[in-house]
Amino acid sequence: MEIRFRDTSVDAVKTDLLVLPVQEKKLEEPPLRALDRRLKGRLRQRMQKANFTGGEGSTLLYSTAGMSPAAYLLLIGTGNPKEIESDTWRKLAARARREATTIGAEDMALFFAPEKEPDAAAGAIVEGLSLASYQFDKYRSNSKPPPELKSLTLFKPGLNRSAAIEKSIQTAQATIPGVFLARDLINEPPSVTTARFLGTQAQRHCRGRGLSVEVWGKKKIEAMKLAGLLAVNRGSQEEPRFIVIRYKPSRKPRKKVALIGKGITFDSGGLSLKPAKSMETMKLDMSGGAAVIGAMSRLPYLNFDIEVTGYVPTTDNLPGGNAQKPGDVIRYLNGKTIEVLNTDAEGRLILADALALAAKEKPDYMINLATLTGACMVALGPSVGGLFSNDQSLADQLMRCARETGERLWQLPLVKEYREHLKSNVADMKNIGGSHGGAITAALILEEFVDHIPWAHLDIAGPAFAESGMGICPKGGTGFGVRTLLKFLSTV
Ligand code: BES
Ligand code: MN
Ligand code: ZN
Repeated sequence: MEIRFRDTSVDAVKTDLLVLPVQEKKLEEPPLRALDRRLKGRLRQRMQKANFTGGEGSTLLYSTAGMSPAAYLLLIGTGNPKEIESDTWRKLAARARREATTIGAEDMALFFAPEKEPDAAAGAIVEGLSLASYQFDKYRSNSKPPPELKSLTLFKPGLNRSAAIEKSIQTAQATIPGVFLARDLINEPPSVTTARFLGTQAQRHCRGRGLSVEVWGKKKIEAMKLAGLLAVNRGSQEEPRFIVIRYKPSRKPRKKVALIGKGITFDSGGLSLKPAKSMETMKLDMSGGAAVIGAMSRLPYLNFDIEVTGYVPTTDNLPGGNAQKPGDVIRYLNGKTIEVLNTDAEGRLILADALALAAKEKPDYMINLATLTGACMVALGPSVGGLFSNDQSLADQLMRCARETGERLWQLPLVKEYREHLKSNVADMKNIGGSHGGAITAALILEEFVDHIPWAHLDIAGPAFAESGMGICPKGGTGFGVRTLLKFLSTV
């Protein structure tokens, strides 16, 4: 997609689809009046008939039938001007992209006059347009490639392009393939995305310009004493993998960050088997790992002066004849032991290995992403991820980044008192708590393995997978986390 900037007025742009953002109840602004004049008052009539007042997300599509150089107009409400943020632009662009697809538009012109942070808005618009175009169609016999949007023109009278705007657009363009990679890995059927496949995909997509990948097989995993990963893998015919992706910047790194992603390629629950309905979407259970691979794969294009290491422990969780049993005890490389009372609480078992291993390298920050608990979905619903941290400034920073990327996070507490609920009769702790606060008890278990390094845990069980198509993503894997991780890395 070619992106152009033009200093021009709204009634002079020749395009298939002219997109005009309209603030709530601000229907007398010059661009809208100019268009209405050009259309001899018919636009205003349509707006009245359709009751369009610019409420956030409301739209009005109007065919100009040759009365203006633009074939179609699309008015999109941006709602209350005080509430406009980056994500307003992202959603607006995603909406515009879907309308462009419906009318077969090959180019789009967008009236670009954000009241604040035009650079963030421009980046968000490019993200929204691209993210909304994603399709995963390879298993449909009648699939056609999505119609291509060839160009986007951002215009307004007196518009100047600025270095900040260009940079923000470039960053967006460098980021998006990482989101698409994560979505693809999640959307592939679980018998395609095996641990071995995740390893080869990491090798394929993370290489060159400072990036390197090691994929450890079962022998090396045994030698490294990754006991949680081995325990979960016991019920499977597939071998586990432990993926380590390293990024070394060309300049001396200012900071060291570890990213850890849960890579359960299919979660049947193991011997503590899930009911059939709950298994339907359990290919999503490697979404944290996919986000780490997706984010790492873009680092060569983003030039951050930080060393980043990605860790993805990966296996499926199946109830084969040799499967781990409720009552088994795992001894971890940091000496701690966990009694496994429910084999469906497997994410924490494999993340414990990865966190303990990552902590040994003493990074400045550790961030893990995991589709860890149904309880987090109960608490926050399908669109919001849970954020836990032992370091409030890290949590604040991630919250700020998530606000900008529109990947919604909400902080939940690490309630020390609930450690009581994890007491085991035979080991240091058991792998499940009581019947309440399941997202918190899971996070408390992870905390035992981070060795007091500033750490954040993102429980993305809800937002990793869209059960109903959302604005910037069709049903399926969302790639949640990739953009927030990269945003975070740009700010440390
Ligand atoms: N992968 C699941 C969590 C999950 C559930 C993710 C729904 C996405 C959607 C995780 O491994 C799991 O099974 N958690 C159990 C923990 C319980 C046994 C303590 C859960 O949430 O029920
Ligand atoms: Mn599980
Ligand atoms: Zn799981």
